Amino acid sequence: DWTPDIFIDSTVAELKATLGNDKVVLGLSGGVDSSVAAVLIDKAIGDRLTCIFVDNGLLRKNEFDEVLASYKDMGLNVIGVDAKEQFYSALKGLSDPEQKRKAIGRVFIEVFDQEAHKISDVKWLGQGTIYPDIIESVSVKGPSATIKSHHNVGGLPEKMKMKVVEPLKTLFKDEVRIVGKSLGIDDTILGRHPFPGPGLAIRILGDITAEKVSILQEVDHLFISGLKRVGEYDKVWQAGAILLPVKSVGVMGDERTYENVVSLRAVTSTDGMTADWAHLPYEFLADISSEIINKVKGVNRVVYDISSKPPATIEWE
Ligand code: XMP
Repeated sequence: DWTPDIFIDSTVAELKATLGNDKVVLGLSGGVDSSVAAVLIDKAIGDRLTCIFVDNGLLRKNEFDEVLASYKDMGLNVIGVDAKEQFYSALKGLSDPEQKRKAIGRVFIEVFDQEAHKISDVKWLGQGTIYPDIIESVSVKGPSATIKSHHNVGGLPEKMKMKVVEPLKTLFKDEVRIVGKSLGIDDTILGRHPFPGPGLAIRILGDITAEKVSILQEVDHLFISGLKRVGEYDKVWQAGAILLPVKSVGVMGDERTYENVVSLRAVTSTDGMTADWAHLPYEFLADISSEIINKVKGVNRVVYDISSKPPATIEWE
């Protein structure tokens, strides 16, 4: 029978045998998979593992600082890299979803490569690849398959001539969470919703500016905090907000406004391959809509996405 502790013991033993005295570099994303992979490798080789956590300027509000702090608390040897400007400048003027993904993937590799080169003699690239990632990238031809490889630093191994070590590649997401729990990783990391590698860039339809990112971060923050407050966060697979390239008329006091529309999206799913829109309580939707419109400057209309996958996808781009 599979138990997390047996998995951990045998994986750590295997990692020790495979890695010996070699050094490993691993890109942390703040998500469950890369975090659990990092802790396993850290258990095997300690500070011969260097983790790199890149701020691409497309993360959730405060996420970079909070997550970096919790990685440090966990005792990981982690380097935080502020690369916001590099990402924004590469994204400037791009509105096609695939071009945005490509630009983000390219800059990520550049930044990661640069940091990794500062460590001498790294032989291995650690990755948090899980079993469904392998299945998906062979069976799905679509935007997310393409970027999944970016997200998991595709292209890096060849470029850096490194071998790849993927301790989670036989596990499903729920097993990764169980292993993480057994490793003592904090619930704020383990219970985290999936978040796409290109981050808010694929939730801002059209071109990306720092101002749009900041509007969306505020909206997303209110939505996610609201879900947590009313106990809905753990019931949904994933949730977030999308900034639409549409303005609409509204009225605020005696003034006519002409501002942005945001869509809220929350879905239930077991693996992300299919998903239903989450039937959030009307009362919650009503409250969160007025909270967002009242608090976030630049937004005067909130809509809720009631599309399921298929035929829609979870993300809008
Ligand atoms: P879709 O939109 O294809 O999303 O229904 C399925 C799951 O994949 C995530 N997703 C991505 N993850 N890079 C990622 O790392 C991407 O480009 C990407 N696109 C979608 C999405 O958030 C959902 O969990």
